[in-house]
Order: sequence, then C-alpha cells, then structure tokens
Amino acid sequence: MSPRTGSTDHGYARAGEAVTRTATRRRLLMCAPRHFDVTYSINPWMAPEKPTDGSVALAQWESLRDLYRALGHVVEVIDPLPGLPDMVFAANGATVVDGRVLGARFRSVERTAEGPAYLAWFRDHGFGDIRWPEHVNEGEGDYLLAGRTLLAGTGFRTDRRSHVEAQDFFGVPVVSLDLVDPRFYHLDTALAVLSDDEVMYYPAAFSESSRKVLRELFPDAILATEEDALVFGLNAFSDGRHVVLPQSAVHLIDELRQRGFEPIGVDLSELLKAGGSVKCCTLELRNG
Ligand code: ARG
Repeated sequence: MSPRTGSTDHGYARAGEAVTRTATRRRLLMCAPRHFDVTYSINPWMAPEKPTDGSVALAQWESLRDLYRALGHVVEVIDPLPGLPDMVFAANGATVVDGRVLGARFRSVERTAEGPAYLAWFRDHGFGDIRWPEHVNEGEGDYLLAGRTLLAGTGFRTDRRSHVEAQDFFGVPVVSLDLVDPRFYHLDTALAVLSDDEVMYYPAAFSESSRKVLRELFPDAILATEEDALVFGLNAFSDGRHVVLPQSAVHLIDELRQRGFEPIGVDLSELLKAGGSVKCCTLELRNG
C-alpha cells in the first residue's frame, strides 16, 4: 500500500488504499448577501411568504468566505446592489476560463440587471477579453469546468444555443447535459466537479441520454442519494482536496472521506430558501 497523489493519479480509494489529495489555490469572486431576501419565486425552493433573516444569511455567508480564506484561497468581493436579492449567487454572474469572461444573460427579468453588474466588475478588474452573450446563460450555475471540458447544463435556464457560443468563445469542448427535475434547475445543483476528472452527481436530475454520457465520461463518479441532493449536497466547491458542502449531506460527506477528500460541512440554510448554497455563492476566476 503506497500513498498516491490525487493530482497525478486520478484513481479513487479502493479498500485499504491511502489517497493523498492535493489542493490548488483558487481565486474566487463572492457577493455579500446584504440585500438578500426572497421576494419572488423563480425556482421551486423560493417561497416569498416564508420569512428570511438577513443577518443570519450574512453571518453564514461570512463564515463561508472566511473558510475559503483559511484554506488559502483568494476571495475577491463584488458590491451587492439593492433590488437584486439573488446577486449573492455569484456563480451565476459569469463564466471564466483562461482569463476569458463570458457574461451571464439571465432567463428571468428579476435577475437581468445582474449580468451587466458582474461584467462591470470584470472590466474594472483587468479582464480584457469579455464577451456579452448572445444567448441566455446563467454562468457557472450551468457551466462547470472539469479538466479542459466544460460541462454545460440546459433544460431550465441556460439556452442550449449558449453551449455552442461557449465552445466558440473558450475553445474547449462543451458537453451538453439535460436537466429534467425542476428542483435541480441549474447544473451546479445536480453535479459537482471534484478534480480534473472526478465528479459527483444525482442521476435522476438528468435525462436518460445525459446519464449515459455522464457514465461514459465518469464511470467512477460518486452518485448522490436523493436525500443528499435535496439538501443541496451537490452544490459544493472542491479545490482538489477540500470539498466544502452543506453539512446535512451526510452520505456524500462519508463517501468523499472514503475517497481521500477532506469534506468540510457548512451551514447555509438561510440561502437555501432562495435555492442556493455553497457553489452558488462562489464564482471561480480562472486566470489562465
Ligand atoms: N434564486 C436563484 C435563482 O433561482 C438561486 C440561484 C442559485 N445559483 C446557482 N448557481 N445554482 O436563480
């Protein structure tokens, strides 16, 4: 039994085998939920009649930000704008690959203004290669980079035509995946990238043909239970070693540990009222 490094050997832990995972430092963009609330409903989780607590939301978000920093990641912040309660979900603000920025174009009118707000941040922070999108796409909500392949969700939010636009713009292969369960309306609610070639996902959130594609690409993937998917266990952030995810995703936490990752459970219950959790709050700035 010899220890292996996750970065060079992409295997998973078989019985009795030790796996050492390697974290890589990430640069992340986040947006404090200072204007957070649930005032409209654009996904099945949002119930405007249910009260929200802004100070709890802020405290939970601050612990996530502080955790990222404690793990050695660089966290940038964008100022939240009044009247945009979902702006806390920075993952939706853009998609960044090799320093190139594809802006977001939201499906719902309630979030439309977030697209230009995020793009302005990129313009002001030295990102020169920025594209205002032709087609509806909700950023990293539906675009997840696994190695050099962009996994792309569609079905509820991002327009399938955006997948072609993203492939043209970034020059990496894009794999379209169809989401079929409205509770998992963004790809990042149904699938998380753990390393260049490892993912975890909830099969029932995908069409039959997309499930085949996922099995083909990731035969050793961790498959989530419905229970873990429903607490947004797949809305996770991984740096290759640490996997930050909702603490109530207990089976996933076990499974990740068995495969040599270091799962870190967090509580973002207040943001879950808007249908978001860890990954939704986190946009990765891949500088290239
Ligand atoms: N209320 C937001 C919406 O429905 C939540 C977005 C969550 N973000 C995410 N990356 N899944 O658009």
